[in-house]
Amino acid sequence: MAAGVTVLCAVRGAAETDVVVALGGPGSGATVTRRCGDVAELLAAAAAGAGVVAVVSADLPGLDRETVGRLHGAGVRVVALGEDAAPAARLHALGVDAVVERYDEAVLLAAVRDAASVRAGAPPVAGSPADLVLGRGADGASGDVFPADDLAGLDDLQAGDGPRRGRVVAVWGPVGAPGRTTVALELGAALGGLSSRARRRHGRARRDVVAPPPESVLLVDADTYGASIAARLGLLDDAPGLAAAARAAGQGSLDLSTLARHSPVVGGRLRVLTGITRAARWPELPASAIEVVLERARELADWTVVDCGALLEADELLMYDTHAPQRNGATLAALQAADVVVVVGAADPVGIQRLVRGLEDLREVPVPVAGERVVVANRVRASAVGAHPEAAVRDALARYAAVEDVHVVPDDAAGLDAALLAGRTLAEEVPGSPVGAAFAGLAERLRAVVAAAV
Ligand SMILES: Nc1ncnc2c1ncn2[C@@H]1O[C@H](COP(=O)(O)OP(=O)(O)O)[C@@H](O)[C@H]1O
Ligand SMILES: [Mg+2]
Repeated sequence: MAAGVTVLCAVRGAAETDVVVALGGPGSGATVTRRCGDVAELLAAAAAGAGVVAVVSADLPGLDRETVGRLHGAGVRVVALGEDAAPAARLHALGVDAVVERYDEAVLLAAVRDAASVRAGAPPVAGSPADLVLGRGADGASGDVFPADDLAGLDDLQAGDGPRRGRVVAVWGPVGAPGRTTVALELGAALGGLSSRARRRHGRARRDVVAPPPESVLLVDADTYGASIAARLGLLDDAPGLAAAARAAGQGSLDLSTLARHSPVVGGRLRVLTGITRAARWPELPASAIEVVLERARELADWTVVDCGALLEADELLMYDTHAPQRNGATLAALQAADVVVVVGAADPVGIQRLVRGLEDLREVPVPVAGERVVVANRVRASAVGAHPEAAVRDALARYAAVEDVHVVPDDAAGLDAALLAGRTLAEEVPGSPVGAAFAGLAERLRAVVAAAV
């Protein structure tokens, strides 16, 4: 071992002495630079650069995915001492680099040595797919048992060909209520075939359109400024499912049945993870947990549609300094995970200008956004942009944002108001409407985009 691996020790109980003695012994090549009593002390020591490896008890209060992510952010690798306090799979799900299941001096020294050696140049490991696989536990999806009322929509979950790998769609748009939530809801309904029965009844004239088989959809309300999916669907009394799922993810215990429990079926094969009921609860949705929720969501549903907040900026001071939770972290995590980013703008002069700038902002977000952009101009109407509104909107977006294939959704205040009043999607409430047809078309487009990306 290279001389002098600096170790931060946050071990509880009698094992602490063993660890300090072992690491401090002659020839161990390591030095314990800090003995930390709790997570706060550990994070402070890490931020101060006092060590390169942390040895922590599995049952250290506050040890969660966020903490491990912050340690990684400070360049510290994490070795967890299991000691029967937690199964190794759960510890791996937190993102730790190594688990020593039972204290053994030689095993501990080897783990510390390995952790120190991968440190140089290695990217932070939080959120790596490997962690998530380990986090699923030994029996994986096939061993999960679902309560009877959760079986709807989970029918092909246990098909046995390995986990499903659904798609994630982030629905984003600049401030000014361009219709992010409306698009997320109606897109979810269209992908999930919520309107298909109705469309068969009403759609004789459109015999050429063969409705694709409904797919399972999970709608996620990740807007940390104004969550509204629950209210739109009349789920007012529900505890925020996304916060509960994020909490489980942060603790390394989000398995498929837990996610299903927090995301009730609201119709057909559409599930909803509702958002935070008060904007002040945003710290309950840290990016490090949301990324796990979305990864698990891919196993639960064919499509996960995320209603994002409008703001994208990260507080750089916080990011650099303390890795404190970020209010826009949930939106950034969704954008990073997304296979497709649906960018929504309002089709009026102000909305178009914001959309053009929003597309620029999207290129500068502090996380990699690889998903293909699909641009939606919402509420297209002559009263806001003049005669031939569709052509005017297409022309403006082609000219100012080089967007050639904008997807237009007509204005239908009466239809959407009726849906809102009924607590349903427009697809269910007003079958066969032009807005419904626009979202069916958008769903088709998304299917084509992900098929082309394979
Ligand atoms: N195509 C549309 N036609 C008419 N009204 C719309 C349309 N899309 C959205 N709206 C209305 O605009 C308002 C804001 O939409 P919403 O989806 O909540 O926006 P955001 O999530 O971006 O804040 C809502 O009252 C909604 O019913
Ligand atoms: Mg909204």
